[in-house]
Amino acid sequence: MKHFVIVAILVVASTIAIRAGLNSIGLLPELASVQGTSTDQLFGLYVWATAFVFSLIVVTLVYALIAFRRKQGETGEGVHVTGNSSLEIAWTVVPLLIVVYLAFIGAQSLADTRRIDPSAMVVKVITGQWYWQFQYPDYGIGTTELYLPVGKQVDLQMTSRDVIHGFFVPEFRLKQDIVPGRTVELRITPSVIGNYKVECSQLCGSNHAYMTAAVDVVSQADFDAWVAEQKAAAGENPVLLGEQLASQYGCTVCHSADGSKKIGPTWLHLYQSQVPLSDGTKVTADEQYLINSITNSNQQIVEGYTANVMPATFGQTLDKNQIAALVAYLESLK
Ligand code: CUA
Repeated sequence: MKHFVIVAILVVASTIAIRAGLNSIGLLPELASVQGTSTDQLFGLYVWATAFVFSLIVVTLVYALIAFRRKQGETGEGVHVTGNSSLEIAWTVVPLLIVVYLAFIGAQSLADTRRIDPSAMVVKVITGQWYWQFQYPDYGIGTTELYLPVGKQVDLQMTSRDVIHGFFVPEFRLKQDIVPGRTVELRITPSVIGNYKVECSQLCGSNHAYMTAAVDVVSQADFDAWVAEQKAAAGENPVLLGEQLASQYGCTVCHSADGSKKIGPTWLHLYQSQVPLSDGTKVTADEQYLINSITNSNQQIVEGYTANVMPATFGQTLDKNQIAALVAYLESLK
C-alpha cells in the first residue's frame, strides 16, 4: 500500500511538471481564429493525457527498479503473478471509455469548425505549382495576398490546377487539402489583427517549401479601404485593371509575366516580338494578335504548345473594356 501511495504522488507530480514543460516550449503559435478555440482545447487535453501516460509508465518503471532491486543477501526468486482479472477488466474498460470520450469531443470540435455563417464573405482560392491566387467575387478583385477583415467569417472555396496542395495557416489551426478536379471549402473567422502566412501542407513538388503567401488580417475599415483602393486603381489605370483581370480570370495560372515557362507562353517581351507558330509561319505580336489570342485561343498556336488547352470562352466572358485592359497590360510587359 505504501508503494502505491508513493507512486501515485510521484505520477501526479511528474504529470504536472511534464505538462508545464511541454507548454513552456511553445508547442503552438498564437491562436488567431474563432474555429481554433476548440482545436486548442482538444490539444490541451491531449498534452495532459500524454504527460499522464508517460508519467504512469516511466515513474512506475523507475520506482520499481529502485524499490524492488535485489538487496544484498537476497537469493530467492520473486513472487510469480499469473493473472488478475479485475485489473485486466479495469485496464480494458477505462481506456475504452477515455477513447470513446475523446472521439466524441473530437467530433464536436469538427462540427464547431464547420459552423456556417450565412453572411460569410466568399474568397476563391486557386492553387497550382507553386502559387496561391485569391479572388473576391463580391468585389471583383483578384490578388496574390489574402486580405481578411477581422471577426468576419470567410468561406474559402479552393481549387487546384494540378496536384494536391494544402491550405494551412498555423495561427488559424485549420488545414484543408485541395484536391484537383473539385472545389473544397474551409471556413475561418480570423480573431486577431496581424500578418500571417499560408503554407502549403502537402508535398507538391520541388518548390513546395516556398509555396507561401502573405495573409493580412485587418480591421473592417481597413479592409473596406483596401477594396476601394483596389477598385479605384483598376478603374483609372487600364494596365492595373488588366493585371487584376489576368489574376482574377486565372490567366496567370498558365502565363507568366517574368519569362518563366508555365503551361502557356510567357508574356514578358511578347508585344511586338516575332512569334513562331505551330504551322511553321511567324507572326508579329501586335495588338490584333493579342486580341485574337485571347478571344480565339485555338486559332494561332505558338510552336511547342498544343491547342485546346486554353479555354476558348474568353470572347464571351470578357467585355470589350476588359479585353482592352488585358491587352494594355500585355503591352506594358514589352
Ligand atoms: Cu503546394 Cu506543397
